[in-house]
Amino acid sequence: MNLLLLGAGNMGSALAQQFARAGHQVRMTASSPEKADAVASSLQGVTATQTQGSADAAEVIVIATPYDQAVAALTAAGPVDGKVVVDITNPLTSDNMGLTIGHTTSAAEEIARAFPGADVVKAFNTLFAQVIASGAALADGQKAPTFVASDSERAKATATSLAESIGLEVVDAGALKNARYLEPLAGLNIYLGYGAGLGTSIAPTWIR
Ligand SMILES: NC(=O)c1ccc[n+]([C@@H]2O[C@H](COP(=O)([O-])OP(=O)(O)OC[C@H]3O[C@@H](n4cnc5c(N)ncnc54)[C@H](OP(=O)(O)O)[C@@H]3O)[C@@H](O)[C@H]2O)c1
Repeated sequence: MNLLLLGAGNMGSALAQQFARAGHQVRMTASSPEKADAVASSLQGVTATQTQGSADAAEVIVIATPYDQAVAALTAAGPVDGKVVVDITNPLTSDNMGLTIGHTTSAAEEIARAFPGADVVKAFNTLFAQVIASGAALADGQKAPTFVASDSERAKATATSLAESIGLEVVDAGALKNARYLEPLAGLNIYLGYGAGLGTSIAPTWIR
């Protein structure tokens, strides 16, 4: 797939590297073209681009900016009508103990509301960047799972295919509004990893 990552930080760079290894065409942007250049040149098979108009050639756009920059970044990259937009953001407060937007909406729904022509899917947000960067297998070779939530079957299928291409399990988490559960779950994961000292080689899963 032809992928655009908005953001070249912990998550943007980890996902970009794994997607490129899986054979996808990957471009990335950052706040500044210099930063995107510096990160992309340290990764194999990833190229940098400026954010402005960058969605043009992309089939799929991954939002890997802080949540409060998501709409601005996607607006600059756009137009995004007809594109699949993968939202990985977590709108956590600075102490990671709350959501900046409360519990009656979610980052994914707010992004979908701002871009009604895009097919938005929530995915990858409950996985530490370190887990993505180190590969999908965790303790005893278990596959790390990602939860995928969307109102668009096309977007859900696209995110599922992307996740499976980098070795992740996929848990279908239903409609986009279930991002209201997935975003605070990322907060619990951060507590367990850092607060409770379990480290960053952990991931929430759902046993069936
Ligand atoms: N870190 C994790 O383990 C983790 C796990 C799951 C989900 N998430 C979520 O993933 C997102 C990214 O997290 P992160 O840890 O990767 O953050 P980060 O390291 O701070 O990286 C954020 C990136 O976004 C770029 N950026 C900011 N505003 C932008 C704009 N308007 N246009 C284009 N690029 C812009 C920054 O550019 P510059 O480099 O130029 O500043 C930076 O490259 C967040 O929403 C976070 O909640 C993080």
